[in-house]
Amino acid sequence: MALPGSHDPSSPLTVDVRRRSLVSLGDSDPALWRRWLATAERFRTAGAPAASPARGRHVGLGFFEPSTRTRISFERAVHGLGAHPYVMAGESSSLVKGESLRDTARTLVAAGLELLVVRHKEAGTARVFADAVPVPILNAGDGANEHPTQALLDWLTMWRHFRRLEGLKILFVGDVKHSRVAHSLRYGKQFGHTFGVAAPAALVEPALLQQFGTFEPSLDAAIPRYDVVYVLRPQRERFAEADLLDDAAYRERYAITEARAAKLAPNARVMTPGPVTAGFEIDVSVAEDPSRSLVWEQVVNGTWLRMALLHGAFGGALEPGEALR
Ligand code: CP
Repeated sequence: MALPGSHDPSSPLTVDVRRRSLVSLGDSDPALWRRWLATAERFRTAGAPAASPARGRHVGLGFFEPSTRTRISFERAVHGLGAHPYVMAGESSSLVKGESLRDTARTLVAAGLELLVVRHKEAGTARVFADAVPVPILNAGDGANEHPTQALLDWLTMWRHFRRLEGLKILFVGDVKHSRVAHSLRYGKQFGHTFGVAAPAALVEPALLQQFGTFEPSLDAAIPRYDVVYVLRPQRERFAEADLLDDAAYRERYAITEARAAKLAPNARVMTPGPVTAGFEIDVSVAEDPSRSLVWEQVVNGTWLRMALLHGAFGGALEPGEALR
């Protein structure tokens, strides 16, 4: 195990470690994304690999911001591979005493952890970790910046339902501005995805709209034209004053209600990264109906996708991406 402080950006070790990290989807390409997805699909259908190079390795799970799905699925995946998880949650780390992110990462590696998963409310945290230590870093969500493992599990979920990724039309509904998931899913343009946005002006900035595609002034008119209606909860915990909403007006214009779900194209589906504010941005009856919603499939796929990432990060063989075409 390399010691902290021995970080040389040009060394082959660093290049290899960076290749096994997932800080941003922009650091890799669809060929590798497909291999991660194909490996997750194999694990989901055949079970966890009996022998993975992850077995016996020490994995830090730094969840410095609340999480249910991402944290538990990573922890489950670590156990499934026979590795050892070390969880730091919320306020329990020395970050609250003023320790820097960089020193936190270096301390974890000096203590013997060999891969770090990190979630933090500050955008850029995963990059700070990756620049600080010579071990693979998996970004579990950094502020409103990116949530690449969620995008990958969403693509796996889409592929399992549509049996293709190419050319899917995705309508983001709600809080695009604060959504790290949308910021990662936009890389789906490289699969030929096209995007629409139905959102109040406060929750989608003009610069963001240019990245995401067509603004849809009427959600009702837009829904029948999309394959995926992707619901983004208003992230009030990240709101500035200018983002504040009239809840009744929001639900009236942007909630995926029974009436709106009735406008879905025959094979279209509703998705959301969760958590859901039940009965606000989506009706419970819609979210719970597998003939209209992939919400629970997304959760199931999260564990297998994260298992594939961990397996690959420790040098495990990945399936050929062609398996997913
Ligand atoms: N989708 C997601 O990141 O959910 P959690 O915040 O529960 O991990």
